[in-house]
This record gives sequence, C-alpha cells and structure tokens, in this order.
Amino acid sequence: MPSTHRTPEFAAIVLAAGKSTRMKSKLPKPLHSIAGKPLIEHVIKALADAGASRIVTVVGYQAELLQSAIGDKSEFVLQAEQRGTGHAVQMAAPLLGDWAGPVLIVPGDAPLITSEAITSLLEGHADRAATVLTVRLDRPHGYGRVIRDAQGLVTAIVEEKDATEEQRRIDEVNVSIYAFAAPFLFESLSKVTPNNKQGEYYLTDVIAIANEQGHAVGALTWSDPDVGRGINNRVELAQASEILRSRILRKLMLDGVTIVDPSSTFIDADVRIGADTTVHPFTIITGATDIGEDCNIGPGARVENSVVGNAVRIRDSHVVSSEVGDGTTIGPFANLRPGSVTGKKVKIGDFVELKQTVLEDGVSAGHFAYLGNALVGARTNIGAGTITCNYDGKNKHKTTIGPDSFIGSNSTLVAPVAIGSGAFIAAGSTIVEDVPEDALALGRARQTTKPGWASERRNRQAAK
Ligand code: UD1
Ligand code: CA
Repeated sequence: MPSTHRTPEFAAIVLAAGKSTRMKSKLPKPLHSIAGKPLIEHVIKALADAGASRIVTVVGYQAELLQSAIGDKSEFVLQAEQRGTGHAVQMAAPLLGDWAGPVLIVPGDAPLITSEAITSLLEGHADRAATVLTVRLDRPHGYGRVIRDAQGLVTAIVEEKDATEEQRRIDEVNVSIYAFAAPFLFESLSKVTPNNKQGEYYLTDVIAIANEQGHAVGALTWSDPDVGRGINNRVELAQASEILRSRILRKLMLDGVTIVDPSSTFIDADVRIGADTTVHPFTIITGATDIGEDCNIGPGARVENSVVGNAVRIRDSHVVSSEVGDGTTIGPFANLRPGSVTGKKVKIGDFVELKQTVLEDGVSAGHFAYLGNALVGARTNIGAGTITCNYDGKNKHKTTIGPDSFIGSNSTLVAPVAIGSGAFIAAGSTIVEDVPEDALALGRARQTTKPGWASERRNRQAAK
C-alpha cells in the first residue's frame, strides 16, 4: 500500500540482533525468505510503505551478513551483546537521540506486519508517550501480557516468566510493535534495570515507567492476530509463508486476476499481474516479475524475474530473466533461459530452448530447437530440430539470422555465422559459412537413389 499523507513523520527501529537457535540454520533468521523475500525485508517494506522517514535496524548476531543483505534500505546500529530488547533499542540512541517525533518499534522476524497496522497505530498514538499494538490469542503462552486499568489504559506489560497465575490468564498480548515519543523512550530506557527472571533489559518496562511518570499509555488491539506473528522455527516459517501467499493471491484476485486454483499457485510478493489475466493451476511466479493483461499463464508455468506483455500464453514452460512480447505463445515444454527476448506474436513451441536470444516480431520456432546467443529477424521460420552451435568448447559465438528467412528442419548453424534476410536453408544442412540474403544454402550430402535395389536384396536373401 502506498503511504497515506496523513501519517505523521516517524522513525522506526527494527529489532534483529538476536540469535535464533531454533531455526537450526547457518543463516540468521531474518534472512530466511517467504514469498521471495527475506523476513526482515517484508518488515522494512511495510515501514517504507507506511512512510518511515528513517529506518534503523539493530544488528548483532551475524551483523555483517544482515547488513550486506539489507543494504541501503536501512541504517544500522550494532548491539554487540544481546542483553534484552530494552538494551537493543538503546543502541539506536546515537542515531535517533535527537528525533523529536514518534518512533515505531518492530521485531525483524514478524513479516506479516502491514503498513495499514503501522499507520493506524501512529494515528492513534498522536503525541502520546507510548502506544502498544496488541492482539488477542487463544493460546497466549510465551508472550508478554498486557495489563490494563479500569479505563482501558495500559499500566504494564508482564513477561510470561515474571507473570502471576492471574496475569497469565490474560489473552491480550504484546507483539513487540509499539509507538513511542522518542525523547521519552530514550530517557526511560536509561532507567530500566535487569531485575527480572531472565536478567535482561526489558523494553516492556518502559510502559510501567510511563505510568509512574503520569503518562497515559494507549493500546490498539489489532483484529488480525497474524500482524505480529513471529517466526521461531521452520514450522512457523512455513505457516507465515502460507498466510502471506493467500494474502498475495487474494489481492491479485480482487484486482481482476483470475486464479483458477489458489491452492496450487505460488506468487511472490513483488509480482505484478494485469487485469483479466488467468493464472492456471501448478504455476509459480517469482521475483520481480511483471505480467500484462489478458494473458493465460499455466498450467504448469514457472516465470521468474521476467517481463511479460499482454495476451501472452505460457503453458508447461519455464521463463527465467526474460522478456516476452505481446501476443506471444510459449510451450508446452519450452525453456526460456536468462536473456531471452521475444517481440510480438512470436510462437515458441514444444522443446524449444532459448538462451540470450532475441526473436523479433512474428518469428516461429514451433518444435525442438536450441537457439543460443542468436538474433532472429522478424517473421523468420525456424524449422524443427534447428540447432545453433554457439559453443566451441571455449567461447560462445553469435548466430545472426535476418528477417523473412526460412531455416529448414534439422539445420545445424555453426557460429559465428550470419544468414541474410529472405535466405532459405535447406533441411538437414550444416551451415559453416555466412549465407547472403535471398540465397539458398544446401550443406548436406546429395541423395543417391538406386532403383530396384531393395527388392533385389530381398530376392538374394530368399535364394540362400
Ligand atoms: C518480546 C517481548 C514480549 C513479546 C514478545 C513477542 C520483551 C521484554 N518482551 O519477548 O512481551 O510478547 O517479544 O513479540 O521485549 N532482540 C534484540 N536484542 C536483544 C534481544 C532481542 O535485537 O538483546 C530482538 C530479537 O532478535 C527479536 C526481538 O528483539 O527480533 C524480540 O526478541 P525476543 O527474544 O523474541 O523477545 P521475547 O523474549 O520473545
Ligand atoms: Ca520472540
């Protein structure tokens, strides 16, 4: 969602310094992906979409890896030792100590947060000292419980381990998404002590401190409990992935895309698809893919990091890092490898493989062909079994074929080689020399026919 103009200017802190032992992974948890993007990038994108002026990520465990993956989408501060969420936020003081407006805090492992939730939290927060986003859970076990007074204001957040029996029965929990007035936040954090069961500096203690200072702490109860769903192991990773997948499909359908079978369709978060396109079952569309209107994608299509025009049909085929022009048909069983570009109304049939190859408007390659490092001019027909021999064991070489030519079936084009426009290559030819325009090239042994040979042979064998 694009940012709304009413959202006040705000800074954000993403907590991502913790070690995540339960993932049992060499990769830090925030870099595990769902819907084609690392968890933390979903969080950062929601913040950016909500209009965050500054985003500061607190890194610790595998800090360098995290920093290089996130790049310039965030600023970074290091928390060398993980001494609790309060301590983590304090690390951002050198960067945000002068920030006068609201600061939003979010965990780096809760990828289902939305810009709508962030915007609503900030709107309700206005210029209060602190506002907490809460959810109600059937099984609140493990979460900090939200303690409210008779007026509904939040008086404290109590961690499960520090809670009384009665407090543990509260089903409203803290999901570590808060808005704070920055000056109040950093001032209060210096007063937090690690006097609790875990010996950590709790960010949640700031809520009690606000109360002690006479500040009213508000809460926004979000109806979708997934908003703060954290991920601690790979089961939860798969669950979050499934939730995000259905959100993505739902949005596409509401925007006019037909998805025949959502249960067998996988589409990444950044994919764009135009109205009246139909996505058929068993289709996977990933990366930064952009598909136009009125297309039929699938069944069995795999489209990755590609730009696809309007009215394109892709069946049981792979299209990777390629561009496909309007009205082109692909498959079944075609493979467009990186760097393939088709013009308009190109026909690519079964068992045709393209790699770094341009097929201009109206080219037809209907059956069994390998075209690598080739440029094929408009309207040219590529016969069944045509092979560009682009590799000599050391280097790749280019094949150029002009427009309106005819490449006969089972032609072998040994690159580098150029075939002029309007040329005709006889079926079964091996072409090792350039062919001028409008010429016929034959590169095969002449046929010998011996009349009666076969019957004479049969007669000889019968006489034995
Ligand atoms: C925290 C909250 C709890 C809430 C829960 C779920 C506190 C004291 N408790 O508990 O009320 O219900 O989250 O959202 O805040 N992190 C750091 N540095 C640290 C410690 C943590 O960066 O020193 C990061 C983690 O990487 C993680 C986030 O902070 O992204 C939350 O940490 P976590 O250990 O999961 O907090 P909980 O103990 O679960
Ligand atoms: Ca947690």
